[in-house]
Amino acid sequence: MNFQPLLDEIDEEIRPLLGQGGTVASYIPALARVPAQQFGIALRTCQGGEASAGDAATPFSIQSISKLFTLTLAMRHLGDMLWERIGREPSGNPFNSLVQLESEHGKPRNPFINAGAIAVADRLLSDGDAKAELLALMASLCGEPIGFDAEVAASEAATGYRNYALANFMKSFGKLDNAVEAVLDLYFHQCALRMSCVQLARAAGFLCRDGRHPRGGEADITTERHTRRINALMLTCGTYDAAGDVAFSIGLPCKSGVGGGIVAVVPDQLTLCVWSPALDATGNSLLGRKALELFVAKTGLSVF
Ligand code: DON
Repeated sequence: MNFQPLLDEIDEEIRPLLGQGGTVASYIPALARVPAQQFGIALRTCQGGEASAGDAATPFSIQSISKLFTLTLAMRHLGDMLWERIGREPSGNPFNSLVQLESEHGKPRNPFINAGAIAVADRLLSDGDAKAELLALMASLCGEPIGFDAEVAASEAATGYRNYALANFMKSFGKLDNAVEAVLDLYFHQCALRMSCVQLARAAGFLCRDGRHPRGGEADITTERHTRRINALMLTCGTYDAAGDVAFSIGLPCKSGVGGGIVAVVPDQLTLCVWSPALDATGNSLLGRKALELFVAKTGLSVF
């Protein structure tokens, strides 16, 4: 199927809505100065067909979308042992919330809230040069080099008081093996990966291919079993306390970031990435969600 006319149509419908709502993340200057009036959409089918529209080639800060890729690496390293330190339940709380950690003895609810992603980063650090491993994975998935935005990483470190609190709290429960500073250095860098919608739709391609490499002909990224589980976590936890509403209104496994990107998976068919920097109250891209709703309504593609 040729998806290009459909993505052009969605771009045309979204553009008049730009600037009409939502707020660009403002906790660091590098994100606060991103112009809100941008929208991009890109997809890649399991067979390798691609389509894109709008600002799909503009790089942005992928932020929490990176949690997909670090989780994939940690599952590869640890298999089911990963779940000794991290749960698989939606939190129903904002992504940077501390409240559940105390009563749950420093075990984060899931790998997509900040505490969970910090715990994943700790596990990766125990197994070698995690930053290099992450960059190598991203380059392999995209077929081109991907880099960290040094300014974003430095600002995350300078202002990440809650993340320091989360990491220190987990450390106090004996749930982090590595030094808090080293774990957060990895976490802040993964959040600072810079990629476009086109690159993210390619990179997430293994999630609609049962873990096989998006381009084929190369080693599998992960197993079919792990891929199914990553997609399940995306559906239940990938958009924080909006996950129920996203499942209701879109019905696809999604992972969002405060840079305004959302990656979505239609298993066995395609991966999508939408981007628009203005966020709703839950920290998810307002028009990104709207664009995914349009995509599902127009194609009927959903896991339900
Ligand atoms: O860790 C943080 O608080 C930021 N780097 C935000 C990460 C993120 O994208 C969370 N949610 N969407």
